[in-house]
Amino acid sequence: MINWPAAVVKEGKGGNVSFNEMEIAMALYIGLDLGTSELKAAIIDRERRFLATAGFPLEVDRPRPLWAEQDPDLWWRAVLDVMDRLAAKHPEYMKNVHGIGLSGQMHGAVLLGGRDEILRPAILWCDGRSERECAELVRREPRLSEISGNLAMPGFTAPKLLWVAGNEPEAFARTRCVLLPKDWLRLKLTGEKKSDMSDAAGTLWLDVGKRAWSGDLLAACGLTEGHMPGLVEGSDRSGILAPGLARRWRLGEGVAVAGGAGDNAASAVGIGAINPGDGFVSLGTSGVLFVCNDRFRPNPERAVHAFCHALPGRWHQMSVMLSAASCLRWIAALTRRSSEKEMLAEVAALPAADRMRAPLFLPYLSGERSPHNNPHAKGVFFGMEAGHGAADLGYAVLEGVAFGMRDGLAALQSAGAGVDRLSLVGGGARSAEWAGLLASALGVEITTHAGSEASGALGAACLARLAVEGMAHAGEICPRPPAAAVYRPERTLRDRLDRRYALFEKLYRDLEGDFSWLDGGRNRLAARKG
Ligand code: XUL
Repeated sequence: MINWPAAVVKEGKGGNVSFNEMEIAMALYIGLDLGTSELKAAIIDRERRFLATAGFPLEVDRPRPLWAEQDPDLWWRAVLDVMDRLAAKHPEYMKNVHGIGLSGQMHGAVLLGGRDEILRPAILWCDGRSERECAELVRREPRLSEISGNLAMPGFTAPKLLWVAGNEPEAFARTRCVLLPKDWLRLKLTGEKKSDMSDAAGTLWLDVGKRAWSGDLLAACGLTEGHMPGLVEGSDRSGILAPGLARRWRLGEGVAVAGGAGDNAASAVGIGAINPGDGFVSLGTSGVLFVCNDRFRPNPERAVHAFCHALPGRWHQMSVMLSAASCLRWIAALTRRSSEKEMLAEVAALPAADRMRAPLFLPYLSGERSPHNNPHAKGVFFGMEAGHGAADLGYAVLEGVAFGMRDGLAALQSAGAGVDRLSLVGGGARSAEWAGLLASALGVEITTHAGSEASGALGAACLARLAVEGMAHAGEICPRPPAAAVYRPERTLRDRLDRRYALFEKLYRDLEGDFSWLDGGRNRLAARKG
């Protein structure tokens, strides 16, 4: 049973146009999910079925160690490409679309000048260049964690702007507005500068408890509220699709664009994790453990994120590892497998005894957030033997990501989250092998659902429907979907994994101080001691 604050239960309306009951019954919704490795679009009906999907692959530019950037113009070309293809193939669906919802990779900084021109490539969530700026932010605003609910970490948006101010002062001086990735797409779609609460919470400029920009946090970066987009809830209408685009894609008049959500909150909406205690684990480019709350519950000490959810009156806690399914993609490419699927099949055929002799893998290919908050952390294979082959490395990677998740779960539990079952979403949800390993490594029941690998796009489409039909229908629009498969922890496997996990933890502790040597820095622990 959902208890929404009375103020938020109001009927929605689609754009400037009101729809009759018949039209609402036929209505379709589009979810646009701007991932890091792919932009996905999905047309969803009222039974939450995927009627049509289209994707556009994206690459991350890494011009220097620790840097991760993408060109926002490429994101927009990706939107035009997927929407043009959907319109060409499915004109019959397009004319019934009533709303579009946006989901996107969080934290990225898109800097716009006075004519909304892009001033530099977007600095992404997995960029680790701004460690020093994090310390400087806290020096300038000691109440940062109290107001934002989070540790200052390089992945978040605020330290990126401080880095630009110090290193590219011309770009900083010309900056009139900072948008998050999906919000830049909104500007192109509707002409509106808006963000939703869940994504805005990842900037470190939001007073997360109050769901409002914090003048003090902005001032610490030399910015004001004037540099920020307006705020809406994810389930609110943020604007109307520009008429030229509506004509190009054969959509009707007055198509609403909903506030939408950061990709994790969108996935939560997609799998119905909208009530306190609901949670999921996501194996996307990043790896995430997410738990929904009915209040702001910060616990920054172990790098647990405390953000607004995409629905009013809801917040969430999250632990985030920076490389998850991306580790599998990496090892499959490195060992010249034709696909991740081929690698997974080889791992599935590996006997249990070989798995216990496989190397251990620390999955920190782009540094790490929860619980270590270490942008310098690196990937490590430990215990390689001449007899090891690609399948052993593949197994080690799946297991290492599962162990990273176990660290994240411990961090969430120390923040008071009670977790005994989790849905699995993201690209990694396609792998039964990985789901089983996760269940035993975490000691929780893992459930997959049909379409859960595209839950971000599904959640975005659900938010569009909420914006059109209203929050009173939240229970019907965002139900817990039926299980496709359930994976339970296995006692003997758990015991074996426990022993390997003890070594995994020790390896990180032993190596922690040395990673930054490779980035040309001092030993991190020695540097901390002064
Ligand atoms: C969340 C985070 C990632 C990105 C990329 O804090 O950084 O999950 O949203 O998808």
